[in-house]
Order: sequence, then structure tokens, then C-alpha cells
Amino acid sequence: MKKILAIFLVGALSLGTKVKADEGMWLLSLISQLNYADMQAKGLKLTPEQLYSINNASMKDAIVSLGGFCTGEIISGEGLMLTNHHCGFDAIRTHSTVENDYLTDGFWAMNRAEEKSNDGLYVRILLRMEDVTDKVMAEMTDEMSETERASVAKKIGAALAEEATKGTKNKGLVKNFFHGNEYYLFIYEQFDDVRLVGAPPSSVGKYGGDTDNWMWPRHTGDFSMFRIYTAPDGSSAAYAEENIPLNPRHHLPVSIDGVKDGDFTMVFGFPGSTDRYLSSHGVQQAIDKYNPTTVEIRDLKLATMRTYMEADDATRILLASNYAQTANYWKYYIGQTEQLKNNGVYDKKKAIEDEFISWVNADAARKATYGETLDLLAKGYASTDPTVVSGRYLFEAGIIGPQSTVYAWRMDRIMGMYFETKNGIKAAQKAAETDEEKEKVASDAATKMERLLGAAQAQTEEHFGEYHQATDVALIANLWEMYYKNTSSEQQPSFFTNVIAKKYKGDFTAFANGLVEKSIFVDKTRMMEFLAEPNEKAYSKEELNVASAEMLGMYFASEEANAEAGQNLDKGYRLLTAGLREMNPDKKYAPDANSTIRMTYGTVGSYYPKDGVFYDYYTTIEGIMQKEDPNNDEFVVPAKLKELYMNKDYGQYANTDGQMPVCFISNNDITGGNSGSPVINGNGELIGCAFDGNWEAMSGDVFFETKLQRTISVDIRYVLFIIDKYAGAGHLVDEMTLVKTASVKKASVEEMPTEEATN
Ligand code: ARG
Repeated sequence: MKKILAIFLVGALSLGTKVKADEGMWLLSLISQLNYADMQAKGLKLTPEQLYSINNASMKDAIVSLGGFCTGEIISGEGLMLTNHHCGFDAIRTHSTVENDYLTDGFWAMNRAEEKSNDGLYVRILLRMEDVTDKVMAEMTDEMSETERASVAKKIGAALAEEATKGTKNKGLVKNFFHGNEYYLFIYEQFDDVRLVGAPPSSVGKYGGDTDNWMWPRHTGDFSMFRIYTAPDGSSAAYAEENIPLNPRHHLPVSIDGVKDGDFTMVFGFPGSTDRYLSSHGVQQAIDKYNPTTVEIRDLKLATMRTYMEADDATRILLASNYAQTANYWKYYIGQTEQLKNNGVYDKKKAIEDEFISWVNADAARKATYGETLDLLAKGYASTDPTVVSGRYLFEAGIIGPQSTVYAWRMDRIMGMYFETKNGIKAAQKAAETDEEKEKVASDAATKMERLLGAAQAQTEEHFGEYHQATDVALIANLWEMYYKNTSSEQQPSFFTNVIAKKYKGDFTAFANGLVEKSIFVDKTRMMEFLAEPNEKAYSKEELNVASAEMLGMYFASEEANAEAGQNLDKGYRLLTAGLREMNPDKKYAPDANSTIRMTYGTVGSYYPKDGVFYDYYTTIEGIMQKEDPNNDEFVVPAKLKELYMNKDYGQYANTDGQMPVCFISNNDITGGNSGSPVINGNGELIGCAFDGNWEAMSGDVFFETKLQRTISVDIRYVLFIIDKYAGAGHLVDEMTLVKTASVKKASVEEMPTEEATN
């Protein structure tokens, strides 16, 4: 019986499009209850305890949240960690100079002393998680507004986290799931000394660039490596020379057996956010307003940045992360819009909502609980609709477009307090009775002012560390002018009319050039001089200060103006999510991603991107050579890689055909934040590192496309080949636990490398 089932499954899987994609970013503590049987049927050989256990070493101990924005996995007993190149990108950039350009040439620490520390970069490893819904909900009532519910959740969540971490260095966090219907507490161990170990050149790690981004077939070696360090006693510590490599509870063994169509795959990681419960109204708003406006603004931002980055190498390096991040989601929004349309997501959502309405209306009790759901959503979107476009201009073009706006606002918060303190001294002294008290007032104020100036200096150091004046002022000129022209005057800061239109005759470039002449916010030396002797009168006349204060003010005011819409939307989604789960009691629903650790499982699989077109499940080095274009920096193939290709010098990393595999796809359900996640086979061994999704399913964060959706991963054999053969850093491969079971013999549960076996 079992065998027949197995044969049937293999038959079904080999048909490409028949592969059933597995929607769901599952909570680790619920795997045995919700997913385990299915995972076993698909090829998992481990026990639930080997995946997630509070008391014993398990898979989760090898998975880290990298800085809260990516995922990494521990792959040696000495704290070696693998993630994506685009996740390590900013660290690589920070260490790069025109002379030592690690972005272009790659970087490899040939010994521990050469590993490079990274200010502010941390990793978190989950210790345990707990359902605290009852505790959080105990103090909520049906009469409460959504805002009141949220503040209850915040208060109780903070208390629970505090209680769970008291007397430890651990971090506790309570998070909201299923749109306010469930709450879980997470306890993490955090490590603050994470050092860069290695990165391939961008011509490997970012091969294909923005052209290939979000697309299959792919030929990118999107990986980089770090090492986690602890204090000599194994506890978490800030960077110190005496620190030692982390001795992890578990590290992933690495399989060089490779993957086949239909193979079981699971991915652990920290997906950031999805919108799977988004209503049809939300889909329409994204297609018509939010996405196209964002894309239009970013088009101009990227073109402006390119002018300066292409002209000068130091600028190219300085702005590389900012550019890559902007470009990544610029293309994301293009793809999402296109695929929301192609995949008919509005209609699919509408169908779900129609079914929901019939279900609600069929029963008086349901009507009482859920009757208002869709009206709340309709109302919420109707009232936000008129300001979506101007809101995008305010935020994307006005606030985060140039580098200066947010900096000026942050500085203003500090300097505002500084001047307030300074100006308050006289009055406070008047009120004081004795000379002693008067003196104390003055010295307290002096201490506070000194502290504030210190904060302002630190803010300034950080800001100018990644700042390019010519680019910034060009962004101010171009993006603010675009904002000015494409919105009506009541949707803009009055600064545009009062200052730029009047004083500069509407010439945004003249305004921006004026900043270069005199503004403290675009020139570090000038700012430092100002901070040495802050003059309030001059400060209050700073045009950038005035403009940024007004824009941030508008932003917060719009949040307040939309508070009622927010209430309606929050309540609508809370009810819709609860109602859908009640309507389909047998369907397993996974919560939307929220940067908490999840597991998704599925299988390796080819697909049909459109009628008559077949996409195979893996790529090889042949494709790298086919795409080569020495005149296009996205497709330059490094000489050493070509040489290895010519000589077919792939060592033990070639596949059974003697080819060098590069990337593969599987139907796991991932999103941003999963970048760097391990792709793990049925034996618990690492087979790839996930780094992207595919173009045809770019609507996937809103609606999971069962036939189309794929995770794109770099094959671990290509990673090892690059480290070993290309970079000559084989000592890193030596510290891993390599598994080669030969094609005939598959490891059984008992043979899964345990802590003892792998250390
Ligand atoms: N789209 C990928 C993600 O968001 C990032 C890929 C980085 N590569 C690139 N060419 N920008 O996870």
C-alpha cells in the first residue's frame, strides 16, 4: 500500500504543474499537530522533536534572525553562519573602499583574525514560544475599540515578556497573529558580535542584477558568510577581541547529494510580512494607486542615484545598499501589480468574500458576530482611497526619497529638547529659592544639554557615514519637484509654495543648490561646527529643518486623520480572519508573516510560467556562460569562474552528469525576511539557501499561487564550489559537516547526524 502511494506521488510530482504548492508559513510549536503527517508523507524523515524542541537540541537552534531583516543558518560547530549576499550586502559595503572593493572583488577571511566585526549587527535564536492568547485576551472586551485592544495587548505583552526574561540577557516579544485573534510569546537569545567571514564578488553574488531579480531561471550565487561570537563563557557579548566562536546547540549538516524534482524541502526562517487576508478593496487600491505611484517615484530616485554612482567609484560603493534596497522593491511593486492582474487576484478575493457573506447571512448568530465585516472594510478603503497617492508622494518622495529629510527631523527632536532645556534655565532659577538650588538647576541643565549634544553628534556621524551630498541635493530637487507637480497644493507642505515657489521662483534646483551653499544638514563639517556652539536663531531659519518638520508633521497628522479608517480596517480584518477560519473548520490556515520564525514545507518542482513554456527546476553554470555580457556589469563573468568552467574543475560539487548546478526552485511559501533561509531535505541536511521568489507569482504575498509559486535557492553545491574552488577558502568547507550518502543509500531517522555525531 505504502509503495503504491509512493509511486503515485512520484508520478504526480514529475508532471511539473501538478505539484501542489504548499501554502503556509507555519508556527514551529504547532508542527506536530498541524503539519507533521503531511510532511512525513512528502518525505520528511525526522521526528517533530528534531524540528522543534524546548528541552533538546533541535533544528530551530541552527536558525537565526539576522538583524531582524534576514535569516541565517549555523553550519558548523564553530558558529559559522550562512546567509544571502544581499543580506550581507551592507556589511560588505561598509568594509569596502575604492582600494579594497569587496563588493566588486569579494572578501574571504583566511583565518579567524581576518574576520570583520560589524557595528550594530546582531542575530537572534529562538529558545521557546508560547501561546498567550488567553492571557492577553482576558482583559479585552467586545466593547473596546481596536486601539484599546491594541494597547491592552501591548501592556500585557510587555509584562509577559518581562516576566519571561527577568534576570537573563534574553529578549522576549509578544506578537499578534491572525489579525488580532491570537497572541504568542517568543523568547530569543541574542548575540551582538557577528563577523563577516566571506562574500563572493557581486559578479557571482548578484549575478544578473536587477534584470534577473525576482525571476527564474536564475544563475546567482546569492550567499555570504558570517561567524557568531560569544563571550569566553559562551554568553552573549558585544564585540571584544577575547570573544570566542559560538558553540551552537545544533548546526545543519550539509548534503552534497543534490536535489531532484519532487524531493521534499523545508525552509525555516523569519518571513517579514504577508497580506493573505487582504480584501478585494485592498487589491484594487494596490493596483490603481499604491503600487504605480511608488514605482513612478522610485524610477526617478534610481535614475538620479545612477547619475552620481556611475560617475564615481567611491559614490557607487557608498550608495550601493541604498540603491539595491530601493531597486529591489521598485521591481517588486512592478511585478506585484502585473501579477495581481494576471492571476485575477481581485476576482479570487471577491469570490471568497461572496462566499463569506452567504455563510454569514445563513445564520442569525453569525450575522450578529460578523455582519458588519465587509462594510467595515469597504468603508475603511473608501475613506483612505483619496489620499493614497498623495500619501505616497509625501512618504516616498518627500520623506524617504532624499537622505536629509529624516536626518533633519531626527536632529530636530534632539535640538528641540536642547534649546528647550537651555531656554528653561532662567525661569527654573527664578523659581528656585536658594543659591544652591539655582546652581543645581544650572548644572542639571548643563548635563542634559551635553548629553543631547552627544546624541546629536552620534546621529551626525552615523548619517554622514553613508551620505553623498550631490546625490542628496539632486534627490531633493527632483523628487520634491515631482511631488509638487503631481499633487494638489493642500496635499503638499506649504513650504513648497511659501518658500520654493516664492523665494526660488519654483526652481527646485536653485533651492537645492542653495542648501549646498549654506545648510548645516548637508555638510558634516558645518553641522559639527554648529553643534560646537548651537545658535537657535540660525537653526530655526534652516530651510531643510522647516521643510522636514512640516512633512513629518503632515505624515503623523495623516495617521491621525485616518484613525477612524484604521479602526474600521483593523476590526474588519480581525472579524474576516476569524470568520473565514470558522467557515472552513477543516482548512488549515497559517497566520500572515510577522517577522517571527516559521517553517514552510513542500517539494522541488519545475513549472509552466505560461502556456507552452516549461521551466526546469534547476540551472547550471552553462546558463551563466549563456547570459555572459562583458559590456553589461550585471552579466560580467569573473575570469577565474570562466577558467574553472573551461576546465570543468568542479571537484566533488558537480552533479551526476558532471555539471555544476547553480540554483533550484521548490514550492515553499516564503517572503522578504526569509532571504538567507536554509532549504533542508528530509534528513535535516542543508541543500540550498533561499534568496528570491519568481516573477509569475509576484502577487504571492497577497494570494498564494498554487500552480506557479516558487522559492528560488542557490544550490549548496554551488556555494561550496565558490568557497572552495573559486575563493580558495576550503578551510571553511572543512569545518562543516559534509554528508554524501551516494545516490543508492538514503539516511534513515536514526542516521540523522545528532549533536554528538556532528560536532
Ligand atoms: N528579490 C530578492 C529578495 O527580496 C533580493 C534579490 C537581491 N538581488 C538583486 N539583484 N537585487 O529577497
